[in-house]
Amino acid sequence: MAEAAEKMLKAPNHAELLTVRKRLGIVGQSPALEQILRTVEQVAPTDISVLIIGESGTGKELVAQAIHELSPRRHQPFVVVNAGAIPEGLIESELFGHEKGAFTGAVGTRKGYFELADGGTIFLDEIGEMPLETQVRLLRILEGREFIRVGGSVPRKVDVRVVAATNKDLGDMVRKGEFREDLYYRLNAVKIQVPPLRERKEDIPLLVNYFARQFCADNRIDFEGFTDDAMDLMMEYPWPGNVRELKNLVESVIVMEKGHRINRLILQRYLPVSHFHMEPQLPVPVSRPSEELEREFIYRALLDLKAEIAQLRELILGKYIMPPRRLAPGVPVEPVNYDLVQSDPPEAEKEKDDHFPTLEEMEKELIYRALEKSGGNKRKAAQMLAISERTLYRKIKEYSLPF
Ligand SMILES: Nc1ncnc2c1ncn2[C@@H]1O[C@H](COP(=O)(O)OP(=O)(O)OP(=O)(O)O)[C@@H](O)[C@H]1O
Ligand SMILES: [Mg+2]
Repeated sequence: MAEAAEKMLKAPNHAELLTVRKRLGIVGQSPALEQILRTVEQVAPTDISVLIIGESGTGKELVAQAIHELSPRRHQPFVVVNAGAIPEGLIESELFGHEKGAFTGAVGTRKGYFELADGGTIFLDEIGEMPLETQVRLLRILEGREFIRVGGSVPRKVDVRVVAATNKDLGDMVRKGEFREDLYYRLNAVKIQVPPLRERKEDIPLLVNYFARQFCADNRIDFEGFTDDAMDLMMEYPWPGNVRELKNLVESVIVMEKGHRINRLILQRYLPVSHFHMEPQLPVPVSRPSEELEREFIYRALLDLKAEIAQLRELILGKYIMPPRRLAPGVPVEPVNYDLVQSDPPEAEKEKDDHFPTLEEMEKELIYRALEKSGGNKRKAAQMLAISERTLYRKIKEYSLPF
C-alpha cells in the first residue's frame, strides 16, 4: 500500500518529461518556461488543484495538458471546458449534465463534462467567466466530489482532477465580489504563472523556427526562411496575442509570401499598422514645461490619427473583404490591391463599389479588426468593442472568424 502510494507520488523522471514535451510540442528555453515545467513535474503525480494564470495565448492549455500527460491519469480523459464560450444559461447542464425534462429542450438525459472526465482531468479554462451560482456548485463538487445533474435529485460521485486557468486577476475579482473567495482558495492550491511572450523573448526564435518547420512540413512548402532582421523585428514586437499570435503570423506570412525568403520590410506589412505608428518609444516627460508637454501630446494624437487613417484606408480599399494579414492558413484571399485608387475599376469592381455594407458585414469586420489589433487576445478585443467576452466568443463562432 505504502509502496503504491509512493509510486503514485513519484515525480516523473526527466525522460518522461522530455517525451511529453516533444509530443505536445512545448518549445522554449527561457528560465520562466523551465521553472513552469519543473512545477508541472512536481504537481503532476498528485491530485492537487492547479490554477494557471496568464494572458491569452501564452500556453496555459498546453501546461494543463502536460500536467495531465505526466499524471497517473494520463490514460483517462482530458476534458477541456471553456467557461467563457458557453452561454450562461447552459453552463450548469454542460458541466453537470441534466435529466430528461429538466428544461425546455432537454429531451433526454445527458452527461456533463465532469462525468465525461471521470478518472481523468478536467481543464476549466477562463474560470473567471463562471457565473457566481455555478461557482457554488463547482465548490461542492471539489469538496465532496459529488454533484447532482440539473433537474435531478440523485447525488453522483466523480473522481476528477481539476486544473483551472484564467487571464483575469481573480484576487481582484474576489475583492469586488465577482468571484467566490472559498472557490478561489480551493482552486489556487498551486499557482502557475505563465508570463507573456514579451517577457521571455529568448523563446521567440525557437518558436518561430518550430512553427515554420512544422507548418512547412505539414503543407509541403519549401520555405526559404526569415532573414536576421526579420527575426529582430519579431523580437521587438510586443505580441499582445502571445504565442498564438506568433504562430498565426508565421503561418500566414509563409503562405502569403509563397515560401519566399522573408525580410523585415515584408514582415512589417503583416504586423498591425498601429504598432509601428503608435508606439514610438516616447516617454511621458513629467518635468517639462506644460507647453512642451502639450506639443508632445498633440504629436502623439496625430500619430494615433495617422494610424487610424491608415487602417481606414485599408478597410476601404479592401472593400470590406478580410485583409491578407492574420489569415487562418489556407484561406485564399487576395492581398489588398492598393492600385485600385488609380486604375479604372472594371465593371464587376464598380458593382462591388456600389455595394453598401450591411450592419452584419460591418460588425464582422469590426470584430475581426479588434481581434487583429489585440493579436487574438479576446479579452482585450471584447474591451475594445465594449461587449462581453461571452458575446465575442458567440460572434466569432457565428461569423466563423479564424481566431
Ligand atoms: N511553449 C510553447 N511551445 C509551442 N507552442 C506553444 C507554446 N505555448 C503556446 N503554444 C501554442 O500557442 C497556441 C496557444 O496556446 P494555448 O491555447 O495553450 O494558450 P492559452 O493560454 O490557453 O490561451 P487562451 O487564454 O486564449 O485560452 C497553441 O497553438 C499552442 O500550441
Ligand atoms: Mg486556453
